[in-house]
Amino acid sequence: MAEKEISSEEIFKEFKEHSIAEFFKKNRQMLGYSGMVRSLVTVVHEYVTNSLDACEAANILPDIDVAVTEIGENKYRVRVKDNGPGIPKKFVGKALGTILAGTKFHQYVQQRGQQGIGAAGGLLFAQVTTGKPLFVNSSEKGKAYSCKIAIDTQKNSPIVTEMTDLTEEFKGLSIEGEFADVKYEKSEHGIYEYLKRTALSNPHCQIKFTDPDGKENVFLRAVSAMPQKPVPTLPHPLGLAINDLLEFAHASQSRKISSFFVDTFARTTSNKVAELREIAKTVDFDKPPRSLTWTDAEELIKAIRAVKWIAPDATAIIPIGEAQVKIALKNILDPEFMNVVERKPRVFRGGIPFVVEAAVAYGGKAGYQTDEGSAGAILRFANRVPLLFDTANCAITEAVKTIEWKRYNIDMETQPVSVFVNLSSVHVPYSGVGKEAISKEDEIIEEIRLAVMEAARGVQQFIRGKQHATFEAGRYKTTMRYAKQLAKDLSELTGANEKELFDSLDKIVTKHYPHLKKQDEEENAKAAKGKKEEAEEEEGAVSE
Ligand SMILES: Nc1ncnc2c1ncn2[C@@H]1O[C@H](COP(=O)(O)OP(=O)(O)OP(=O)(O)O)[C@@H](O)[C@H]1O
Ligand SMILES: [Mg+2]
Repeated sequence: MAEKEISSEEIFKEFKEHSIAEFFKKNRQMLGYSGMVRSLVTVVHEYVTNSLDACEAANILPDIDVAVTEIGENKYRVRVKDNGPGIPKKFVGKALGTILAGTKFHQYVQQRGQQGIGAAGGLLFAQVTTGKPLFVNSSEKGKAYSCKIAIDTQKNSPIVTEMTDLTEEFKGLSIEGEFADVKYEKSEHGIYEYLKRTALSNPHCQIKFTDPDGKENVFLRAVSAMPQKPVPTLPHPLGLAINDLLEFAHASQSRKISSFFVDTFARTTSNKVAELREIAKTVDFDKPPRSLTWTDAEELIKAIRAVKWIAPDATAIIPIGEAQVKIALKNILDPEFMNVVERKPRVFRGGIPFVVEAAVAYGGKAGYQTDEGSAGAILRFANRVPLLFDTANCAITEAVKTIEWKRYNIDMETQPVSVFVNLSSVHVPYSGVGKEAISKEDEIIEEIRLAVMEAARGVQQFIRGKQHATFEAGRYKTTMRYAKQLAKDLSELTGANEKELFDSLDKIVTKHYPHLKKQDEEENAKAAKGKKEEAEEEEGAVSE
């Protein structure tokens, strides 16, 4: 028998709204909180990127202290402290305990943070896994205070308790929290690697990391100049989608749609607006932007795509810079050879400018050391932030994988090579809210390929020389082995003096390879010295 039909009234008794905090509480993987190792890195990543943004906004050379302590099974205490400007008491709750609140998302300026989610996301994760609030110390105009911050997920609002003025000296912001379902690991996906790479892409900052074993690791500041400060810019019309345009229009204070265009977007003069008017005939340009409808926006976007625009201004993008990347790579990887390339600005999606920097480094600490030997590594960055996860979904990985490495005498499977790529943009197109990979836009992939290939060309000569030298050394060693055997056999056969025979063969070979002969002699002398010392040590041990 068919079941009785249920009315919509009945079903809608269950209708509820829920807050963005409730949403992320259930979908924390979207913020990077999935997998125990990754979750712990995400916590550190969110608070460290915030510290760097804050210090740079305040013109302070960043000094960041990160400490991770094990406090139980899969349970750790994390503290991130900076020497930045701190957060005024009045804003601390909202800044760190409200999702989608911050000082950055409404500014069109190149920064690490974009969304106003990171800090409160970390708090949400602490609260869900350990039930504990965050413990915060901050300075405000030379005075220090401390407080605890929790989050009311139903309202997406902060609960600030124990606000206390501090008498001791404190400058900056320190955030401490307890997190469970996490694990510390010293792997290529762990906190140590994350901070090492942060130091690499931010040579102006100093990072101290105390790991769970109590070991202090310091990544020293390599340059003492602040990076150039990015200037806020206006969005370019070609970078807009329909809903972006609606959002801008509904938030605008301009009187008319025509003036809204001139006030809000880059490269938009009243002449350009007149051209748009000609095409988007159904749109009333004299009505207030607040009344812009979806259909209007659709028409306007069509018109925007139909007119010619001056390319967006890329001066707002500040890459790390060739000289700084060199210093940082030297400092962290100490390679035998490297080539760094900074490309000119390009645009994606028609109107969003970006700049790619790439480097290929060979030898030293470049690449990975595996049980079988060396292997190539890809170091991915977006606006100087290391990207450790979601490798397969990233435009950088895609670009590097499609390069024919053999053409550059490079073998990413067996050689100690690091490929470094940093993409800088006012709007990095991440492939998810967790910001761990750059989405695979065609223009971006192509530009990264070109940058990496250019960098690879610069190391090709060096690697070819190195391969040739290895080949020659091998050939020299084999030939000399044969010479030794030949001298012995000839002497036995003919009765001629073996040493004389060998010396004359040696003379012929050495004439062509004097440097290899010298190298060989040095190696033999070293080996003999080592053996002698070993024997003496043994003798000493026996007589004791
Ligand atoms: N260490 C800090 N010093 C000073 N202000 C900070 C610090 N950390 C966070 N803030 C303030 O708190 C706000 C919220 O931080 P949150 O990480 O949630 O968002 P965001 O960094 O703006 O964007 P995203 O979600 O992309 O990280 C920031 O915009 C900033 O104003
Ligand atoms: Mg942030």
